[in-house]
Amino acid sequence: MTTHTFPDVPADQMPALLRGMPKAELHIHIEGSLEPELIFALAQRNGVSLPYASVEDLRRAYAFTNLQTFLDIYYAGASVLLKEQDFYDMAWAYLERAAADHVVRTEMFFDPQTHTERGVAMQTVIDGLHRACVDAKARLGIDAELILCFLRHLSEEDAFATLEQALPFRDKFIGVGLDSSEVGHPPEKFARVFARCRELGLHLVAHAGEEGPPAYVWSALDVLKVERIDHGVQSTKDPALMKRLAQDRIPLTVCPLSNLKLCVFPDLAQHNLRDLLDAGLVATVNSDDPAYFGGYMNENFVQTFAATGLTVQHAWQLAANSFEGSFADAAAKRRYMDQLGDYFSRVGVR
Ligand code: ADE
Ligand code: ZN
Repeated sequence: MTTHTFPDVPADQMPALLRGMPKAELHIHIEGSLEPELIFALAQRNGVSLPYASVEDLRRAYAFTNLQTFLDIYYAGASVLLKEQDFYDMAWAYLERAAADHVVRTEMFFDPQTHTERGVAMQTVIDGLHRACVDAKARLGIDAELILCFLRHLSEEDAFATLEQALPFRDKFIGVGLDSSEVGHPPEKFARVFARCRELGLHLVAHAGEEGPPAYVWSALDVLKVERIDHGVQSTKDPALMKRLAQDRIPLTVCPLSNLKLCVFPDLAQHNLRDLLDAGLVATVNSDDPAYFGGYMNENFVQTFAATGLTVQHAWQLAANSFEGSFADAAAKRRYMDQLGDYFSRVGVR
């Protein structure tokens, strides 16, 4: 991919540049885009009772100290999703927000086990989400794809059963991922199911090195054979791993506001995104669970740049990385890069 050198842009002009920049989102849990207002509306529509008195009461509970304290509330929030239209409404709300942030492509994670274990049919989940993706292309001009995630706190046998249930809808998702409680659930627990997914031609990704050690990133690469690492911020602790990630151009889908809210870094100024980029890694910026962590894509970009002093050069690199790291075909990647080049010319920094 070509590299460019850009003139400096005054700090007060960076937010506008970042907001208008075309970008891809590669790490968004669609259930994590469920805003409290929609949780309450769906609870009422479906007659589900919530252990919170109001939207404000629920928002007050969003004070997390680590990944698990978040997951407990995130799974409770998802309990209001029952019908195909609920999944559609959730995804559509996110896709409208993403399009407003100049996201031109998004690869959305979904957690089917969170729903099937409550008696919701796999088809209900996938049909609702996929219908929103199709409409997004037509009405918002955004390319949207789905990635099915296995919950790593459950067994590999459960993951196999989930894969079986999803295979009739194989044409509606492009890959599989691994999420939920990381520490104590290393990637190798899912070696066989990922091998099967690989045989099926699915793209492979996994959360690793969010809270867990660099060893989990190594095993996601070497045992699961994933194409991208979700988070991966703990990799800076292992120089040999950093070299491997740079050499093999393994994308890292970094989520700065998530890392801040889940106390992975004490403040944004200490986030290691700049170290990852400066080491030549294909790092990207993503929102993870925007309804819970205080910001969609543009908030992640603007707040991280303000806190860490990243430059216009980094902005271009992050957008280019998001397209390179996506699972789009070569023609679409070229189209996205042309859009990026046009944008930088238009705003006068090329
Ligand atoms: N599920 C939703 N968000 C997650 C995260 N940040 N880490 C692991 N599992 C998740
Ligand atoms: Zn995540």
